[in-house]
Amino acid sequence: MKNTYFSLLVNDRKREFIAESDATLLTVLRDSLGITSPKRGCNQGVCGSCTVLVNDRPQRACLTLAATCQDKRVTTIEGFAGDSLMTALQDQFQRCGAVQCGFCTSGVLISAYKLLCELPEATAKEVKANLSGNICRCTGYQKILDGVLKAAEERRSERQSERD
Ligand code: FES
Ligand code: FES
Repeated sequence: MKNTYFSLLVNDRKREFIAESDATLLTVLRDSLGITSPKRGCNQGVCGSCTVLVNDRPQRACLTLAATCQDKRVTTIEGFAGDSLMTALQDQFQRCGAVQCGFCTSGVLISAYKLLCELPEATAKEVKANLSGNICRCTGYQKILDGVLKAAEERRSERQSERD
């Protein structure tokens, strides 16, 4: 297989490396860059455990050719350090018991993060619909739903107290 030079902006850092030309984004993140939070579950676009942001849009890294991400911004869970919404989500996931084996967690958090950025007042129905592409084998989903709704509530009250 032919190799190609890649230049990606991963978690705000320019990363240059050589990999097979048809490598997926998931393969280069995990194998070339050692970023293992995006998980290889189904490897065919079904489970959502490989979800990352590409130019701020959630994408299945297992279905995305790395070559299509040249010079784009790729964000994995490691890239959210210090982000207050992601911190609220992570805290509430812990409190609600929404993290068990953790295999689905980074994909779920990234999908939930994007939803709450766009829809800070998302209802339970909207959260469920939005996260329907992220499969979790452990939690039964209710704890994840609780975590997302509680994080949204926490953020709304923080914003309200900033305004008062
Ligand atoms: S590993 Fe990508 S969707 Fe399952
Ligand atoms: S916590 Fe185990 S798959 Fe979701």
